Amino acid sequence: SSSVVVAMDGPSGSGKSSTSRGVARRLGLRYLDTGAQFRAITLWMLRHDVDIHDPAAVAAQAETPVLVSGTDPAAPTITVDGDDVADPIRSAEVTAAVSPVATVPAVRTRLLELQRSIIADALAAGTGIVVEGRDIGSVVWPDAAVKLYLTADAAARAARRTAENGSGSAAATEADLLRRDAIDSSRTTAPLVVPDGAVHLDTTPYGLDEVIDRVVAIVERES
Ligand code: C5P
Repeated sequence: SSSVVVAMDGPSGSGKSSTSRGVARRLGLRYLDTGAQFRAITLWMLRHDVDIHDPAAVAAQAETPVLVSGTDPAAPTITVDGDDVADPIRSAEVTAAVSPVATVPAVRTRLLELQRSIIADALAAGTGIVVEGRDIGSVVWPDAAVKLYLTADAAARAARRTAENGSGSAAATEADLLRRDAIDSSRTTAPLVVPDGAVHLDTTPYGLDEVIDRVVAIVERES
């Protein structure tokens, strides 16, 4: 149906973002990048000199910044306090800081409310939405009609991320991905898990178009 929620979870560099955007464009659905929201709140903390390794300090500011996520898969936008942060949230500084910030329950609660309201808006408008993250099928929207869990070999994930970044060594990128995976998988609140009922897709052998084709077929079959 056109008002389907597609929950797309998986570790860093599994191809979730490119796949989610491609599937949303192909099927005329909205798109929400929840990782961009965690990155945006992290950027705000760094810019306001909040010690991101002090959970109480992070929690005290969790509600403060105004986040707005655009849901057009052709041009997703993200602003913090009116400032377009699409580029700076991809910096090495934010990438290094985001997983500790994302372990703080107050941050997760704040973003959970925002994420659910964006999904509810799409459904109220009679439109479906592809939502990507780590806890979408498990926590954010457990009733999603379609749940996917994307993975790929660590070396393949690092190679993709290094190519996207246009710089840095694949070995350093792989170490960074594995460090974030370890934090994301072991945290107490909403860890990265394979949600109940998710279709597990290992994207290692496939190019992007083939992954999109496969996911579109799964959405058409399951919704
Ligand atoms: O997907 P992306 O790599 O941009 O996500 C950045 C970080 O945000 C993840 O490593 C994770 O710590 C956090 N995240 C999360 N829950 C989500 C999405 C992202 O904890 N639903």
